[in-house]
Amino acid sequence: MNCTLLVTGATGLLGRPVLRACAAVPAWRVTGTAFRRTGPGLERVDLAQTGAIPAFLDRLAPTVIIHAAAERRPDVSEKDPDGTQRLNVGATAALAQWAAAHGAFLIYISSDYVFDGTRAPYTPASPTHPINAYGQSKLDGEHAVQAAGRDYAVLRVPILYGEVEALDESPVTVLAKNMLNARPGERLAMENWATRYPTHTGDVAAVLRQMVAHKLAHPDFSGVFHWSGAEAMTKYGMALAFAPLLPFDPARLVPDNAPPAGAPRPKDCHLDASALESLGIGQRTPFASALPAILAPHLVR
Ligand SMILES: NC(=O)c1ccc[n+]([C@@H]2O[C@H](COP(=O)([O-])OP(=O)(O)OC[C@H]3O[C@@H](n4cnc5c(N)ncnc54)[C@H](OP(=O)(O)O)[C@@H]3O)[C@@H](O)[C@H]2O)c1
Repeated sequence: MNCTLLVTGATGLLGRPVLRACAAVPAWRVTGTAFRRTGPGLERVDLAQTGAIPAFLDRLAPTVIIHAAAERRPDVSEKDPDGTQRLNVGATAALAQWAAAHGAFLIYISSDYVFDGTRAPYTPASPTHPINAYGQSKLDGEHAVQAAGRDYAVLRVPILYGEVEALDESPVTVLAKNMLNARPGERLAMENWATRYPTHTGDVAAVLRQMVAHKLAHPDFSGVFHWSGAEAMTKYGMALAFAPLLPFDPARLVPDNAPPAGAPRPKDCHLDASALESLGIGQRTPFASALPAILAPHLVR
């Protein structure tokens, strides 16, 4: 079925594979937005200038919007809560209001950080309780979407990794960068406190493509959904998986059992993805099998 799809944040870690996955569907006309980066087929827009959003959307006239643009670095959000609110909440509200007024379906990408991490696993109906400014902004974004109308989907996802432009682009692959940059023989402390479920951006992109296809076939589809990888790991565990590929002697990795410094982080936000699974939606790439292709462009041989 046809649709005119707009992907915001199409230059980002998640937006790139989402744009690729959706553009591969012949019946869909797909455009992405960029801000600081550019590229062929991308529309440049500053979504923090919320007043300009309606005219921008009038011009593109999307019937489906996947809203992935955001400030997603918790430590930046903690230091700049106003800037974060402008993009994560103000822009989301403007997109959602336009979508509701024009009969477009908005999929808003949210985060497992809307939970406090004390009562995993979380279903879409579990009570939310963010413990840092980033998580609060993502929850406020959800509320803005829900206040605008009923024809929306919220997709919460946890820590993401996948094809990166630089290793420090993802909070997962940055661990490999730190290992590669260590001095010879240096031992590296790796956080072993929070349990995470690293989730491949290619899998989230496939899930979003399936959600759009499902919506086009089932107009009643809407609500809050979760997608997550299934492998529970701390950052120390992820570093152990990187070690043989770099290579890096795993004996030099020191598990650090203290909570991380900086913005407070939840301990375990495992997301229950069974609502989408029950619709036949889903894709999971095993963590270890994804790493060689992700690392290859960044390793000097
Ligand atoms: N990364 C994770 O581990 C993670 C985990 C859970 C949830 N999420 C959520 O997943 C979504 C995608 O995150 P991501 O990791 O792909 O983020 P990202 O890599 O930081 O990309 C952010 C995107 O937002 C765009 N952007 C930033 N400021 C903008 C502005 N003022 N106007 C318009 N566009 C702007 C960027 O464009 P330019 O690059 O062109 O400037 C980029 O395309 C977000 O909603 C995030 O909250 C991410």
